[in-house]
Amino acid sequence: MSERYPLIRLNRRGDERGALVVAETGRECPFPVRRAYWVFGTPAGEKRGFHAHRKTRQFAVCVAGACSMLMDDGKAAETIRLDAPENAIVIEPEVWHEMAEFSPDCVLLVLADAPYDEADYIRSREEFDRLFKK
Ligand code: TYD
Repeated sequence: MSERYPLIRLNRRGDERGALVVAETGRECPFPVRRAYWVFGTPAGEKRGFHAHRKTRQFAVCVAGACSMLMDDGKAAETIRLDAPENAIVIEPEVWHEMAEFSPDCVLLVLADAPYDEADYIRSREEFDRLFKK
């Protein structure tokens, strides 16, 4: 488990009816949620992300299937495998992230603390390196 980009372990509440996992603001999710989106139907070999946010915080979990999340804060890059609905990760602002190795059944749910705003994105790796590379 990464110390720099730790997984958040979510409890599975299971009984004979099946499984249920919760992400609640102030408990599993550290910020008030303003937006949710989900990524699915990603073709084999496709990669996504390739940006950092200036202010937005996000909470990501593969509610089905698996994908890999490369995280880079400008000091150290690590790749985290999200492969269970009980494993979430917080993508802090100013962290470059890239998603890859999506399983065909992957549904990546992302919760965010702010509405969508293209001005919050740093999509240029050169700009990110200029600002944050150590
Ligand atoms: P994009 O940021 O390129 O996805 P990813 O980071 O996963 O590679 O977003 C794809 C498209 O969806 C782009 O046209 C912007 C739009 N979009 C919204 O309108 N609202 C949102 O909340 C998000 C995340 C994306």
